[in-house]
Amino acid sequence: MSVKKQNILLLGAGGRECTLAWKLSNSPLCGNLFIAPGNAGTNSYGTNLPIAVSDFEGMKRACIEHNIDILLPGPEDPLVAGVYDYFKADQTLKHIIVAGPSKEGAQLEGSKAFSKKFMQRHNIPTAAYREFTADSFDEGVAYIDTCPPPIVLKADGLAAGKGVVIAQSIAEAQEAFHAMLRDRQFGEAGSKVVIEQFLDGIELSVFVLTDGSNYVLLPEAKDYKRIGEGDTGLNTGGMGAISPVPFADATFMQQVIDRIIDPTVNGLKAENITYHGFIFFGLIKVNGEAYVIEYNCRMGDPETEVVIPRLENDLIELLLKMQEGRLNEVTVAHSTQAAGAVMLVSGGYPGDYAKGKVMTGFEKVQGSLLFHAGTANSQFPNPNSKEVVTNGGRVIAITSYGKDIKAALAKSYENAAHIEYEGRYYRTDIGWEF
Ligand code: AMP
Ligand code: GLY
Repeated sequence: MSVKKQNILLLGAGGRECTLAWKLSNSPLCGNLFIAPGNAGTNSYGTNLPIAVSDFEGMKRACIEHNIDILLPGPEDPLVAGVYDYFKADQTLKHIIVAGPSKEGAQLEGSKAFSKKFMQRHNIPTAAYREFTADSFDEGVAYIDTCPPPIVLKADGLAAGKGVVIAQSIAEAQEAFHAMLRDRQFGEAGSKVVIEQFLDGIELSVFVLTDGSNYVLLPEAKDYKRIGEGDTGLNTGGMGAISPVPFADATFMQQVIDRIIDPTVNGLKAENITYHGFIFFGLIKVNGEAYVIEYNCRMGDPETEVVIPRLENDLIELLLKMQEGRLNEVTVAHSTQAAGAVMLVSGGYPGDYAKGKVMTGFEKVQGSLLFHAGTANSQFPNPNSKEVVTNGGRVIAITSYGKDIKAALAKSYENAAHIEYEGRYYRTDIGWEF
């Protein structure tokens, strides 16, 4: 039986979404692909629509107008805000496949306290913790005095990746605690604060796509979060990524499956939490043991830029199997090739940076995939201009395949040098430890 081509609305505007758009558009099952709002790269694979990822009414209009079959939210914000529930509660939208969790399921990412309690209930290894609110402020202050630094403080809610402080002294921890709970540095996201034990180890990202009962394991990845060479300086959205991760050998991954992935998927099911979509496990390996640092209810960025190129299955077929609850019938194939991505960013990022810098050199790139992130087509003075300009902190990811990580990254670096714009910066040491 032939399957009908699927019309898809993909939400987001980053390198992750450009990669997903590339992958979806390569599927024979892809009908019309729309990306909202998209960037100057996504429009090579589909049609960009000027709809914000928070604009549910706008999405509804677009879904009706374009006869959408699948909604794929890239970032967490619409999921945490309840886009799944919005679609399922609307008679005209409820038939649409939403590849993401319900609002309740998205709390795995949307609330650190929720995810910590969930892990405790299901015996999933994670750092020991306590949680505090304005009502228990004094208790929190007394607790911090008993903690050996480094001390990890996390704003409970979404804080655009900035809600985690690793305090090197008790004084610094007290200051951060005060700033979150009393000064509301992160607004409502900091009305509850989780304080947890510092885990000293090496991080990696593991991904599954689940139908609520079964799941398929996607290739694992490691991202490089710091702005500076040798993992120094400020945190960013991610400066590059590699897949596979050499230290994630078969024994370690089996442990991750047994102790973390299975109990998570089974726990969601046992608690009747609706979850059909990606789960991102932010893990840390400490003396050979895996712990969960965080859950995300979506794919990672820039991990997607290496994970999805290494996924050999048809992504639309996986989403259809997800909808039918039949992911147990799927065998996932990971490429035997390695992938390495280097992110080009704007000068000044992650602090202030300029936008609108003209980008050149695309035609010189050979043997790599270009996944646009913060880019736009300049429209002034010519509204039909195809000129590409920078439009964000993280500008473009350059992904390459290779027989190993070194070979993949060598190719990405060769091509990184060709893309030019004022203020261009990238780390030259992605994958440096392998
Ligand atoms: P999160 O937003 O929870 O992913 O935290 C951001 C980053 O802070 C993580 O990627 C880790 O590098 C670091 N981190 C968070 N929690 C811990 C912890 N308990 N121990 C050590 N590092 C942590
Ligand atoms: N690269 C980490 C994230 O997407 O949250």
